[in-house]
Amino acid sequence: MRLFIAIAVPAKIASELEAAVAPLRSSWPSLRWTGRDAWHLTLAFLGEVNDVVAAGLAGPLGAAAADHSRLALSLTGAGAFPGADRAHVLWTGVHAEGQRLTELASSVADGAKDAGAPPAEDGRGFQPHLTLARARAAVDVRTLVAELADYAGSPWTAEEIYLIRSRPQSRPRYETLGNWPLCASPPPGPPPPSA
Ligand code: 2AM
Repeated sequence: MRLFIAIAVPAKIASELEAAVAPLRSSWPSLRWTGRDAWHLTLAFLGEVNDVVAAGLAGPLGAAAADHSRLALSLTGAGAFPGADRAHVLWTGVHAEGQRLTELASSVADGAKDAGAPPAEDGRGFQPHLTLARARAAVDVRTLVAELADYAGSPWTAEEIYLIRSRPQSRPRYETLGNWPLCASPPPGPPPPSA
């Protein structure tokens, strides 16, 4: 089965993003736009994994999640892979404090590797994003990226990670197989104001 590990996008955050994206879709028919039911932040894409290995993912993924605390996130701006002048993927970016999202993705990848399901290497490293649209043939989306450049979603707190099965030919395309809490103590914040 085809698996990936992701963070979910709460309904309120998806509604905000939908309001920003909806007016743009009809002007760009060459793009295959994603809908809110498909929106997620991928931490690691494992590709095809056999049933035995998939069954062994729970322990390492649970341990990886437990090493991290809940994470404040927000969606911000836009960009494209491999570049806005020749895009195959249009995305909105993800803001997290410091390197915390990258560190979580790295722990998740290590956990998957320990279970015998190393993430597929796409050569671009971990670039936090939410895919808004895809295109088979490259499209120049520079004006679209500019229109979304100022997008700033509300902050939310990610509390868990999800193991998701992708069935590209089925509806619904994504099926959640498991989820594990981010339950480490938060890193120390600034000292409380003195009285
Ligand atoms: P994308 O959003 O940039 O397309 C399920 O396919 C999820 O895994 C998507 O979010 C997708 O990223 C991500 N993913 C990463 N590498 C992938 C790959 N080589 N093939 C398919 N999906 C991949």
